[in-house]
Amino acid sequence: MKNPSLASSLIFLLLFVLFSCLGISLADSNNVFDTCPTATDRIEFINGYHCKSPTLVTTSDFNSAKLTEPVNTDDRINLVVKIVTAADFHGLNTLGLSVSRTDLVIDAIVSPHSHPRATEMFFLNQGIVLAGFIDTRNQLFQTILKAGDVIVFPKGLLHFCLNSGYEPTISFSVYNSQNPGVVNINGAVFDPADSSHFIEKFLKRLTVPSSQSNFKLNPNVTLSRYTSL
Ligand SMILES: *[C@@H]1O[C@H](CO)[C@@H](O)[C@H](O)[C@H]1NC(C)=O
Repeated sequence: MKNPSLASSLIFLLLFVLFSCLGISLADSNNVFDTCPTATDRIEFINGYHCKSPTLVTTSDFNSAKLTEPVNTDDRINLVVKIVTAADFHGLNTLGLSVSRTDLVIDAIVSPHSHPRATEMFFLNQGIVLAGFIDTRNQLFQTILKAGDVIVFPKGLLHFCLNSGYEPTISFSVYNSQNPGVVNINGAVFDPADSSHFIEKFLKRLTVPSSQSNFKLNPNVTLSRYTSL
């Protein structure tokens, strides 16, 4: 090219386009407006959601009552977690966060699952659970949580919790993605008929850590069949 300034402009343009595309393709990229509540009337797919017009944004975009009521507690294995993402809680769009509520009746379990796009911070509000996760070396980390305790489940790792106490549990989680996703191995890999068999096998791997052995499990919960205290 004869004109060096034209060549450098072209290179600049090329780099600009390249980096713009990279920015668009990264999940949960930084927000470029103060707020961007989800516009629900758009049908094109982008990485996230379109923003509502700033003139239409209201306080109600930034709060939600979707976690006020207990989640369906009839089911002891599935459907006990309700995740609220930017699809339902519009103010979360572009902020890289979502939130959930989990209600477990005595002996109910959130079976091992992972969130491919988010780390989960799990706060136990009421009751007692055995909770833990499995890392990429297949090492199991498990602990008993009491009301007020927190556990972090690192991004992408299988994790679980089990109500081993004496009352229903209530917990809330925060995820560092506006759409954490859920991969549930007993749903995807096993027949529903096999999944309780799988959970039985999994429960046999669980123990109460020796540092917490003063904790008395409810003798009626399944876990106590496998754990000698
Ligand atoms: C365990 O189950 C028995 C029989 O249903 C009941 O009487 C007892 O109160 C239960 N114990 C606890 C700690 O829930």
